[in-house]
This record gives sequence, structure tokens and C-alpha cells, in this order.
Amino acid sequence: MSDDDGFEASTPYGRYRQTEVFTTGMLTGETPDVPVAYEDLKAAAEAAMDEDAYGYVAGSAGGESTTRANRDAFDDHRLVPRVLRDTGERDLSVEVLGETWPVPVALAPIGVQGVLHDDGDLASARAAAAEDVSYVTSTQSSYPLEDVAAELEGSDAPNWFQLYWSKDRDVTASLVDRAEAAGYDAICLTLDTPHLGWRERDVQNGYLPFLDGKGIANYTSDPAFRDRLDADPEENPRETAREFVDVFADPTLSFADLDWLFDRTDLPVVCKGVLHPDDARRCVDAGADGVVVSNHGGRQVDRAVAALDQLPAIADAVADADPEAAILFDSGIRRGADAVVALALGADAVLLGRPYCYGLALDGEEGVRAVLSNFLADLDLSVALTGRDSIRGVDADAVTSTDP
Ligand code: FNR
Repeated sequence: MSDDDGFEASTPYGRYRQTEVFTTGMLTGETPDVPVAYEDLKAAAEAAMDEDAYGYVAGSAGGESTTRANRDAFDDHRLVPRVLRDTGERDLSVEVLGETWPVPVALAPIGVQGVLHDDGDLASARAAAAEDVSYVTSTQSSYPLEDVAAELEGSDAPNWFQLYWSKDRDVTASLVDRAEAAGYDAICLTLDTPHLGWRERDVQNGYLPFLDGKGIANYTSDPAFRDRLDADPEENPRETAREFVDVFADPTLSFADLDWLFDRTDLPVVCKGVLHPDDARRCVDAGADGVVVSNHGGRQVDRAVAALDQLPAIADAVADADPEAAILFDSGIRRGADAVVALALGADAVLLGRPYCYGLALDGEEGVRAVLSNFLADLDLSVALTGRDSIRGVDADAVTSTDP
């Protein structure tokens, strides 16, 4: 929350944002440039973006039933507000991996942000740092992970590096070492992408941005990757793209490989893309420090289970295996109340995905900041109006399922 425009930095998120927009609106007649409602935000981004880039962000696997299921699962849950509980001051902070997050929110790792805005990940990272929201830098970022880390300096929130485990072990090792050297606080190992999902929009558009050299900055800047090339990436972009496609993922990975990563890094490792309680338990038993319950926003498996529907059982399994392990959630979070539902069902924090992509496409850093301040205001007021004064107080009693 910024304190450069006359508001007290300690003003709760909800009041702060309400005061900001209502005062501006009533005094000047100006309304927010970046649409407030998610549906309007998405529509505005679609109108502003070229078809390929929009299809890449909005699209999902197959008939996109998983993305719909993610939303249906939220629609099957309702919050149960309580009254007469002092909510004058709220504490939105949470503990994740033994560190304090000012708010229970991180920006999800999103690759190829350069197709949304020229400043790409740098703009999103700046916005996250300005709002004290954690940021997860993607392996497929449009700028090298060190440059993104530089934008995160000064943030009060911890920041993570998301790892796609390359088929070339030297490349994987190098990415992990670089993330550690750049000051990231954890590795978020994405496990649901041993192959790229069948995304009908991208197939129809014949569009894979990596082949155009987009979203591969962490490879072209990587000594181990460059060792694989006959010429510098700048001189031979075709060979570079081909090599990237060849090494991007290691589809042969199994639980036995995790030890290699735990040995390689001193950073905590959180496994992202886990949807079965047994997998979550096995990750934690193997030594992972947490999981992200996620179906990649429906981009990998059509007709997959909704991530939210798997959250309670996974939260139980993880707590049973290691009470200290972190449980994060994404896939379908659109508004503050969605986050409260996920927190009530056992998440320690949530990752925000597509909404910030649309903010970035519309107005760069300012667009992401607008999306974030609206989201945090809504989250804060949803917590307060549900009768809770802290995220700790958002327990299973706060939510009920309407699915018979
Ligand atoms: C993603 N996601 C993703 N995940 C990851 O681990 N590494 C990555 O590079 C990317 N890239 C990426 C690009 C785009 C355009 C999207 C939309 C998503 C998945 C992301 O981290 C998160 O799991 C989903 O965005 C959550 O779904 P919703 O809430 O955005 O629908």
C-alpha cells in the first residue's frame, strides 16, 4: 500500500482503496481506468490485445472444462458471515515457510509476460513489490531472473523462483544456483508440465511464443544452456528456439529425482501443481517444504478436477505429514472473497494468476497495481465482513459447501 497520496499507510486495505476511488470520483468525476470487475477487466484486455497473445493467456487445455470447473467449485461454496466481533483492525499477515507475508497473496508464476507489455515481468514485479505482495518469477520470464529480482528489492514480502526442471540437468542446476544467488527465498517446482498441454486456441492460432524467442530469457542468459548452442542465441534464433523446446521439460522425472534438487539447494522447495492428497504427502515426505494445490488454471489437463475441490483433503494430508509445511492454492481466484474461501479450506496463501495478466496488458505496472489494490481491498473487507480480524481467524467455520 503506498502512502504517498495523503492516506495513512496503516489505513486498512479496504478503506484505503474505497477512500481513494470514491474521493477521486466525487471530486473530479474520474473513475478507475482499469476495470474493477473481473469480467470487465478480461473483456477490456481482450479488446486491447492481439488475438494470439489473448488466446495464450485466456486459453486452457482441450475444451477448457477444467477452467470452468475451477469457477464452478467456487460457486459451490459460500462464506458464513458472523456479527458483533470487533473487526476495527485487521491483520492480513500470514506465516509461510517460517517467514511473514504481509498479505496472504502472491502473484503466480506467469511466463512470456513480454507479449502482454514491453516491460513484462519487470512491471509485474515492481507492482508486487510496491503492494508488498509476494512474487513468483517464472522460468519462462521475458527478462532474466536476476533482472526481475532487482525489481523486487525493497519489498517486505518474500519472493520465489518457479522452476521448470529441464531435461538437461546442467541447465536445471544452473537455474537453481542463479535463483539462489539472486536472493530468491524459495524454489517453486512446477510438476504438472512434463509436457505442454493441448491448448486448442494456441493450436488453432499456430502460436507458440517460445519459437519466436519470447519467454526464454532465462535460457539465452544461461551459461549451461549457451554451452549447448553452436552460435550465440542472437546469431541463431532458430537453433536457440529448437534447443529450448528440446530441453524445456524432463518428462521422465519421478519422486526419486527430488533428492537431487534438495541436495542442490539450501532454499526451501515447494511443489506446484499437486492435485492428489497422496502426491502431496509423498512430496512432503520426500522433503518438500510445501505444495501449491493447482491445476495450472486448467491449462494442462482438460476434464481435470477443480483445484478447490482437492484443497481440503490435501491440506489434511500435508498437515498430517508435516504440520510446518506450506499449503498454497491457485486456479480460479478472481476476487477477494475467492481467496477467503481458499484460506478457509486450508490454504496458507493464494496465488493470483490471470487477473494480473489482464491488468498488465492494459496498463503495465499501473495496471497490475490497480488489480492488486482492488483485490486486496476486496479481500480485506471480505475478511472483516465475515467477522474475522485476522487470516488466522478464517477457519473452516467461515465457509459452507452448497454442493449436495
Ligand atoms: C501460467 N502458469 C504458469 N505456471 C508455472 O508454474 N510457470 C509458468 O511459467 C506459468 N505460465 C503461465 C502463463 C499463463 C499465461 C497463465 C495463464 C498461467 C500457471 C499459473 O502459475 C497459475 O497456476 C494459474 O494462472 C492459475 O489459474 P488462474 O487462476 O489464473 O485461472
